[in-house]
Amino acid sequence: NLGVITIPVYVHVVYSNSNENISDAQIASQMSVLNQDFRKTNADSNSIPSEFAGLAADTEVQFNLINTFRHVNSKTSWGTNDQVKSTYPPVTPQTHLNIWVCNIGGGILGYAQFPGGPAATDGIVVGPNYFGTTGYVSSPFDKGRTTTHEIGHYLNLRHIWGDGRCQQDDYVADTPSSDGPNYGCPSYPTVNCRSTDMTMNYMDYTNDACMSMFSKGQKSRLRTIFTAGGPRAAMAN
Ligand code: ARG
Ligand code: ZN
Ligand code: CA
Repeated sequence: NLGVITIPVYVHVVYSNSNENISDAQIASQMSVLNQDFRKTNADSNSIPSEFAGLAADTEVQFNLINTFRHVNSKTSWGTNDQVKSTYPPVTPQTHLNIWVCNIGGGILGYAQFPGGPAATDGIVVGPNYFGTTGYVSSPFDKGRTTTHEIGHYLNLRHIWGDGRCQQDDYVADTPSSDGPNYGCPSYPTVNCRSTDMTMNYMDYTNDACMSMFSKGQKSRLRTIFTAGGPRAAMAN
C-alpha cells in the first residue's frame, strides 16, 4: 500500500496575449479542483446516482504546485504535435507532472501522454480558457475537469467507452461498457450496450458540471503505475 501519493507540479504558461497569461489565482483554482476530484472531496460527488455512488473513489493521489513558468510567444495556436514541449521542455518529468497551458486550437481542450512514453514529451497540455474555474474560462468547460480528465490519461486511464463500440474495453471492470462518448449533460439513466453508462465519470466527454467521479477500478488501475517497476514508480517516493 503506497498511501497518499503527492505529485509535484510545474505549470508552463505559454501566451500570445494577456488573456492567455492566466493569473496565479486561476492556476490555484485548478489545483483546488484537482485535489478535490482526485480525493473525492468535490461537492458534486454527493449527487452521483445510487447505482454508481458506491463505486466513486478517493484515488489517494494529490497535487502540489511547485512553480509556474511564464513564456510569451507570438505563436497563437500550438496544435497537438508537442511543439510547445520542445520549445519549453519539461522540468524533471520523471518526478514532476508538467502542465503546459497554451492555446491548442481546433477546438481541442487538452491532450495527454500516457505513462511509459518519452520523457521529453511527458505531461499534459490544456487550453488557458479550460484551465481552472476563475479568470479566463469558458463555459461549459469552466470547472477544471479538462485537467482532471487529462491527468486521468497521464495516469493510464482510457476513455470509459474504450474508444470503440460496446466490445471495446477501458481495462476497468467497474465502468460499464458503452458504445461511444457522451456529450453535454446526459439525463440519468443513459443506457447503451445494455447497461447504464457512467456518464458522470471524468473519463467520459460530458460537460465539466456533469462529471464527478473516478471509479474504484480506475483507482486501482492508476495506482498500479506507481508500484515497483511501474512507469511512474519514481513519483511515489
Ligand atoms: N477531448 C479531450 C480528451 O479526450 C478532453 C475532454 C475534456 N472534457 C471535458 N468535459 N472537460 O483528452
Ligand atoms: Zn481524453
Ligand atoms: Ca469498463
